[in-house]
Amino acid sequence: MKARIAVLISGAGTNMAALLYAAKLPSCPYEIVLVASNNPDAEGLKIAATEGIPTFAVSHIGLDRAAHDAVMHDAIVEAGAVYVALAGYMRILSTEFVAKWDERMLNIHPSLLPKYKGLHTHQRAIDAKDTVAGTSVHLVTAELDDGPVLGQIEVSILPGDTADTLADRVKMAEYQLYPKTLADYVARDTNPEYLTAQVRTLALAQPEADEVLSHGMPCFGIVGGKKFAYVSVDHHGDGKTALLVKISGVEEQAMLIDSDAERYYRPAYFGDGWVAIRLDLGDTDWDHIGDWIAKSWRAVAPKKLTNLMDVAGEF
Ligand code: GRF
Repeated sequence: MKARIAVLISGAGTNMAALLYAAKLPSCPYEIVLVASNNPDAEGLKIAATEGIPTFAVSHIGLDRAAHDAVMHDAIVEAGAVYVALAGYMRILSTEFVAKWDERMLNIHPSLLPKYKGLHTHQRAIDAKDTVAGTSVHLVTAELDDGPVLGQIEVSILPGDTADTLADRVKMAEYQLYPKTLADYVARDTNPEYLTAQVRTLALAQPEADEVLSHGMPCFGIVGGKKFAYVSVDHHGDGKTALLVKISGVEEQAMLIDSDAERYYRPAYFGDGWVAIRLDLGDTDWDHIGDWIAKSWRAVAPKKLTNLMDVAGEF
């Protein structure tokens, strides 16, 4: 199961090509499902098309920012991508677009962030008499080139380097950095430790919740009371990571399994009052998981606690 990536470019697309060739390695945890551009003449589109990757281009000219971003967003969703990798995409993004891809959009920038955000990074590093330049991959947030840095490679500046000669070497570093960083980042979606930590954050946010280990499983309950969530990791070698939550009974369980048999299953030994929800399919909606956990908490919480919550909710 590989993470589905859309790459956005505006020009040569050599970083996109590095991502694409790395994706051909059997062990690569991502695949490129779309290369999209705001520039229909972008050279990188031809590379992608030749490699059999679907491409999409709509010029931003004549469209306002939000409208153009919406067109790109729709194409990305249509392609089934769950991550966006910006690779020389020369557009300032609307806050709506950034919010839609929160924690799921990466960018590569040719400097050692937080140094030299914006353009002309190599010349600025040379002018400042820096001895090292480099490249960074970061998560995209509303501020330009400002999100959390996921990885960097330093590139020494040679005496006599010009912006062009330095840019050529930084690009070589970029071709190493971006595929590796993207691969590590998307691998979290199938990493039991990361998935358990996500559940832990959501479960411990419930009132009077605590965590214990039950039959080797991380288990969340109400202090001194009933359990409302378990994380099943590779149970009897099934290879799955799943959240177990309370449901109303056998009918709801059957309905869920019927609606999506890959995602939902009947957890062994738990009976009809529980359902298992796979967390490792690569497209987990954590808001939805949060709702499941809150609902499960409510199902087991004593009346005095749920009453308190209801009263609090009225204010
Ligand atoms: C790269 O240097 C990248 O860091 C910056 O834009 C450049 C894109 O080059 N964001 P290419 O189109 O990948 O060749």
